[in-house]
Amino acid sequence: MIADKILVNFQQIFCPIDMGHPLRGADMNEATIIEKGYIAIKDGKILAVGQGKPDKKFMNANTEIIDYTGKFATPGLIDCHTHLVYGGSRESEFAQKLNGVPYLDILAAGGGILNTVKSTRAASFEKLHKKTAGLLDEMLIHGVTTVEAKSGYGLDWQTEQRQLQVLKELNKDHIIDITATFMGAHAIPVEYKDQSEEFIDLIIEEMLPEVKKENLAEFCDVFCETGVFTAEQSKRVLQAAKELGFKLRIHADEIDEIGGTSVATEVGATSAEHLMVISEKGIEQLSKANIIGNLLPGTTFSLMESTYAPAKKMIEKGMAITLTTDCNPGSCPTANLQFIMQLGCLMQQLTPTQVYNAVTINAAYSVCRNKTVGSFDVGKNADITIFNASNIDYTLYFFATNLVNEVYKNGELVVQ
Ligand code: NIG
Ligand code: FE
Repeated sequence: MIADKILVNFQQIFCPIDMGHPLRGADMNEATIIEKGYIAIKDGKILAVGQGKPDKKFMNANTEIIDYTGKFATPGLIDCHTHLVYGGSRESEFAQKLNGVPYLDILAAGGGILNTVKSTRAASFEKLHKKTAGLLDEMLIHGVTTVEAKSGYGLDWQTEQRQLQVLKELNKDHIIDITATFMGAHAIPVEYKDQSEEFIDLIIEEMLPEVKKENLAEFCDVFCETGVFTAEQSKRVLQAAKELGFKLRIHADEIDEIGGTSVATEVGATSAEHLMVISEKGIEQLSKANIIGNLLPGTTFSLMESTYAPAKKMIEKGMAITLTTDCNPGSCPTANLQFIMQLGCLMQQLTPTQVYNAVTINAAYSVCRNKTVGSFDVGKNADITIFNASNIDYTLYFFATNLVNEVYKNGELVVQ
């Protein structure tokens, strides 16, 4: 078959191995790194990836040949846990945070997530659309081509629906592909203060069926945390979501360990998020149940904590992990997945191969897009991130700056 375009002379190409399931344990150390390679594209899909000069059989007079001498390429990065749709911002709480007021205390006093709920409720569809599109633009220039994004700053139906509609619209309009998650159980809204059970009833009886009916989300997520939702309440929400056909995620062991990992295994979640304070038992549970650990070291960094999720130990115990931004206005205000990957190395001692597997093939499994993205297997979408670096290590060693050179989405050059 003849390629439409062939990208040639890469110094290195990182090729994750799609084993038919997320890479777990020692498999996270596996990948093929092609030295001096090329990527051939046909109809927006990967036609071939190889070493040296491309085979003549892929070329005719119409094939465009593009030179990438000295560059490093990977499958388009996947940010598999974000809270992208929100009104306002939270720098007004920054001084409090710097003075040591804990995240959950700010929330308990009506700030934090509830602060963002106020501004999100007040924001129109257009305003949210514009703001979210801006964040997606930022992600794209940092090399991200697929994201997961959650609702959860409405906590009433009207606003949750608006957030999800924004994501649906942007999934059509924006270059980045979006997987939507309904997270009505993100906090307890002021109008339900001390009535969390009633709020959960509302989520289960009214919101979840409506999300399903309008086909607004693929996943359901819950914040299982002290002062937010208990393990039992989280289980109720996720169980109901499961019965309606949603795939599941859970924010577990982020600040306190209150049983979120057990809930994840009981309901059969696809992933458990954060896991900063996970116990040995929790790691064993997730490993045994093949639940992906979505790790968010930027949140630990931004919360000024020292408890990074024990990524190395998770891998030793056979877990599959990803790295992701958590991009949100409170606990992790950044859209730069590269910085998160660098934290994965510098703060969690992950190797470069583990980091790239985390944000490509494993993240693809985490958002259930493994059939189409996450590796350079022939026939997958030609989503390609190219770095101004000649090797994988440089992209993680030189930190906190945007090292992306160009990005292709479905075979088209979208960042240059
Ligand atoms: O993943 N933990 C709950 N949700 C987000 C934070 C949201 C916010 O603070 O606005 C998180 O850390
Ligand atoms: Fe989160």
